[in-house]
Amino acid sequence: MTVIHPLQIGSVSLRNNLVLAPMAGITDSPFRVLCLKGGAGLVCAEMVSAHALHYGNAKSGRMLQVNPKEHPVSMQIFGSDEQTIAEAAKNAEDAGADMVDLNAGCPVKKINKAGAGCVLMKDEAKLGRLLEAAVKAVKIPVTLKTRIALNHKEFLGARLAKLAENCGAAAVTLHARAAVDIHSGEPNVDALAQACSVVKIPVIGNGGISDAARVKDFINAGCAGVMIGRGAVGNPFIFQDIIDELSGKPAISKGPKKRLEIYLKLIEENVAYYGERIGVNRSRKTAGYWINGFPNASDMRGTFVRLDTLSEIQALFSGVLNKLM
Ligand SMILES: Cc1cc2nc3c(=O)[nH]c(=O)nc-3n(C[C@H](O)[C@H](O)[C@H](O)COP(=O)(O)O)c2cc1C
Repeated sequence: MTVIHPLQIGSVSLRNNLVLAPMAGITDSPFRVLCLKGGAGLVCAEMVSAHALHYGNAKSGRMLQVNPKEHPVSMQIFGSDEQTIAEAAKNAEDAGADMVDLNAGCPVKKINKAGAGCVLMKDEAKLGRLLEAAVKAVKIPVTLKTRIALNHKEFLGARLAKLAENCGAAAVTLHARAAVDIHSGEPNVDALAQACSVVKIPVIGNGGISDAARVKDFINAGCAGVMIGRGAVGNPFIFQDIIDELSGKPAISKGPKKRLEIYLKLIEENVAYYGERIGVNRSRKTAGYWINGFPNASDMRGTFVRLDTLSEIQALFSGVLNKLM
């Protein structure tokens, strides 16, 4: 079985079937560009509130912006109302997104209280109406991201994948963990296989992928592609690493020195994109993923998170890099 292959999602052709997961606070434009350079076949943006877009929230509007260097890109929207979901899907299309994804898997309480995210898994009629509203509103492919289950009692992945297909979705991503598990625990590959067996649209499996072996498990279960979340934070070249590992080549991005160089590049891109204060702030949030595995990593992380300017960070990093030579 070929593990890595081009993937067609509706009208969009992906060069490979490795997808960057949407992650709020992480998968912004600078990070998405880096992951495409790192071999991803598709990158997904952080979820954007359809409600906030409807009321003209400037921050949400900016989250839809697409850099010409970041295609193919999927914009993810969340909400609970057909009208605003249709509008948000159209906004994403007008902003240049290649696809639009509906979030029906987020377990965050604030989102669920507003009737969005994983609570939609309990109300298939409403989820179907939201999907159909989005599909009707745009020409680009609409996809669904949901989970295999809400709890450990009942698997819903196959039903929801079928619902997505019936409502016109071009693909479905299934996070192979129950909503009660949030983001921890082993992915349930059998539940993915069950869902893959009932639909013709591509099923993209997600959850706990950090190497080629897991990718193989998901593809053997019938998934057309895989989506990688935290495995890409701190290593946006994980996609190419997996491709290389599967073809017997040595991975290019392993090692703390290389990782630190890539992190510094991302911090520089963040500062260029957001300005110094916000760019440095955002960069700090993922420091734990990047700064590890070399002597005095925790001291360096401690110093780094107290720095406010790019030039101070560049000086700190270049000192550390010199020692790693
Ligand atoms: C910090 C963080 C933010 C996330 N934000 C989103 C989001 O905006 N939309 C979404 O569908 N999933 C979101 N997720 C879930 C991921 O897309 C993915 O399903 C999850 O991390 C499991 O994949 P992994 O084990 O490869 O990390 C988020 C996860 C994390 C860790």
